[in-house]
Amino acid sequence: MTSPETASPSLFGRLAGRSRPVRTSHDVVVLHDVTKRYPNGRMALRDVDLVVPEGDFVFLVGPSGAGKSTLMRLLIRDELATQGHVVVDGDDLARLRRRAVPRVRRKIGVVFQDFKLLPRKTVWENVAFALEVTGTPRAKIRPAVDRVIALVGLTAQAAQIPTQLSGGEQQRTAIARALVHDPRIIIADEPTGNLDPVISWEIIQLLLRINELGVTILMATHDAEVVTALRKRVVALEEGRVIRDELGAAYHRED
Ligand SMILES: Nc1ncnc2c1ncn2[C@@H]1O[C@H](COP(=O)(O)OP(=O)(O)O)[C@@H](O)[C@H]1O
Ligand SMILES: [Mg+2]
Repeated sequence: MTSPETASPSLFGRLAGRSRPVRTSHDVVVLHDVTKRYPNGRMALRDVDLVVPEGDFVFLVGPSGAGKSTLMRLLIRDELATQGHVVVDGDDLARLRRRAVPRVRRKIGVVFQDFKLLPRKTVWENVAFALEVTGTPRAKIRPAVDRVIALVGLTAQAAQIPTQLSGGEQQRTAIARALVHDPRIIIADEPTGNLDPVISWEIIQLLLRINELGVTILMATHDAEVVTALRKRVVALEEGRVIRDELGAAYHRED
């Protein structure tokens, strides 16, 4: 699971208690002077600077249309910046050779508001599929899938399909899928947007636990109560600009 260039132990090594999470001054995400203009002329991001050290937990807040999803799409190279640099774990995404894209892409696990699970596959198969498509040997798939499913607390539901799960369980499946490549970063785009408050807290607690294992988390949300309660780093966007970047901050919805 651990790529050769990775010095820190894998998520599973950390889970097994083989060593403490490595906290270095390494920045896993750097946006330098980033502007994103969509082909229709829409300016989604303007002069954005953002540095995220490994191990951080960052809330990305701001009204609808502020540019939160665009910022996340740039990190997974779904879109390229119009101007400026997007650097993920040392790789400038605009300069990446085509064959290096999958390697960098696997450093980021993605969680969406609407789960995006395959409806005909079980929990186990949904998670395994993420490894199958990258050509992981079968012998490695089984233990990796079993471990992440246990981590998110779904071992008993592993053989169920999405329609047989609650919303919270579907999101935990999506989180397991995001983790199965042992990513350095999880980006979660409004992951609690479809969940009621109690279930939302369970998902947040799970993300906090994953963060404690050393995974950097970037989460876009509208949930002012959660953001304010947790006192993590808050990056606020408005009309594509970073208007606030504070540690231990509160968030009051204005939209
Ligand atoms: N594919 C696209 N093409 C054109 N404009 C887009 C596209 N995606 C988003 N936008 C526009 O970019 C701005 C930022 O959108 P988005 O990043 O989705 O914001 P948020 O996630 O904060 O709601 C909005 O004005 C939106 O309409
Ligand atoms: Mg969005």
